[in-house]
Amino acid sequence: MMQFVKNFPLLALVVISLAGTATVEAATGMNPPMKLVWHYYKVTNTCDDAETYIRYQVEKFYKSDNTVAPKLLRLLYSDCMVNGCDASVLLQGPNSERTAPQNRGLGGFVIIDKIKQVLESRCPGVVSCADILNLATRDAVHMAGAPSYPVFTGRRDGGRLNADAVDLPSPSISVDESLAYFKSKGLDVLDMTTLLGAHSMGKTHCSHIVNRLYNFKSTGKPDPSMNTTLVSQLRYLCPPRTQKGQTDPLVYLNPDSGSSNRFSNSYYSRVLSHNAVLGVDQELLNNDDSKEITQEFASGFEDFRKSFALAMSRMGSINVLTGTAGEIRRDCKVTNANYGA
Ligand SMILES: *[C@@H]1O[C@H](CO)[C@@H](O)[C@H](O)[C@H]1NC(C)=O
Repeated sequence: MMQFVKNFPLLALVVISLAGTATVEAATGMNPPMKLVWHYYKVTNTCDDAETYIRYQVEKFYKSDNTVAPKLLRLLYSDCMVNGCDASVLLQGPNSERTAPQNRGLGGFVIIDKIKQVLESRCPGVVSCADILNLATRDAVHMAGAPSYPVFTGRRDGGRLNADAVDLPSPSISVDESLAYFKSKGLDVLDMTTLLGAHSMGKTHCSHIVNRLYNFKSTGKPDPSMNTTLVSQLRYLCPPRTQKGQTDPLVYLNPDSGSSNRFSNSYYSRVLSHNAVLGVDQELLNNDDSKEITQEFASGFEDFRKSFALAMSRMGSINVLTGTAGEIRRDCKVTNANYGA
C-alpha cells in the first residue's frame, strides 16, 4: 500500500511552501521550465491584496451556489490543457475555444468576470485572468473540501485560439489514450489519476454515457465493466437517444456526492466497484499503475489530497506566459487589442 504515491515527489510541494522562497521552477519535467512566483502581486507590490479579494468573491459565490467548485475546476482544466494556462478559454467570439464541442456546458465565466471587475477597480491592469482562474479554482475547491495549496503566480494572458485548437479528449477514451494525452501535456500517470478525481463532483450530459448504457462498442449491450445496478439507475435518468433535438439531461458524475458537490475520495471507491459514470473513469482499472493509485486513493483520502495539491500545481504551470510575453487583459472576455472595439 501507498507504494506508488511514495515513489513520487509529493514532498516537493511542502518543501517549497515552507522554504518561503520567492521563485520556484514550476512543474518539473516541463520544457522549458517557466518561472512563476509565490504571491507575485504582493512581492512585486502591484496588488498586495489580490489573493484576498479573489477569495472573498469566491466565498460569496460559493455560499449561494456550490457548483462553482466543479465548474471552475473544469474551466481551469479546459484552459491549461489546451495551449497552457493563458486564459484563452475565457475569450469570446465566433469560433473561439469556448464554442468547441468539448467545451459545451462550460461554466464559471460569470464569477471570473466579477472578480476581474473588482480587481480592475482596486489594481487596474495588473492581475491576469490566467492567475485569477487558477487562484479562484484553488479557493473554490478548498471550500468544497480539497486541501488549499500554494498557487504560484505571475502568469500573463494569451491570445485567442480557434475552436479547432481544442484537443480535449472525449470522456469515453481508453486509459492508454488518456495517459498519452496527459503525457503530451507534460503530466504523468499520477497526475492523470489524481486529476480525474475531479469527477468526484459535478455533472455530465447523458450523451456522454448513452453508449455505455445501451450500445457499448456497437454490441447493442451495456458496457460490461459497468455495475448492473448502475446501468439500470442511469438508464432511468438517460433514455436512449433516438431523435435529433431530444433533450440531453445532466446526471451527477459521482452520485455519492450529488448536489453537495463535496470533494472526496468516494470517486475512487466507485471506480473499484465498477460504479464510475464516465468510461474514462472506469478505464482507470485497465492500467496497472492507475489501478494501483486508484486503490491507494480509495483507502487513503489524505494521499489523494496531497496528490491533488501537487497535480493542480503542475497543471497550473503548463506553458504559462511570464515576463513580457502575452498581456494583462482588461476584460477577461476580450484581448486588449479588441477591448472597447
Ligand atoms: C456493484 O456495486 C455494489 C455497490 O453499489 C457493490 O456492492 C458490488 O460489489 C458491485 N459489483 C461489482 C461487480 O463490482
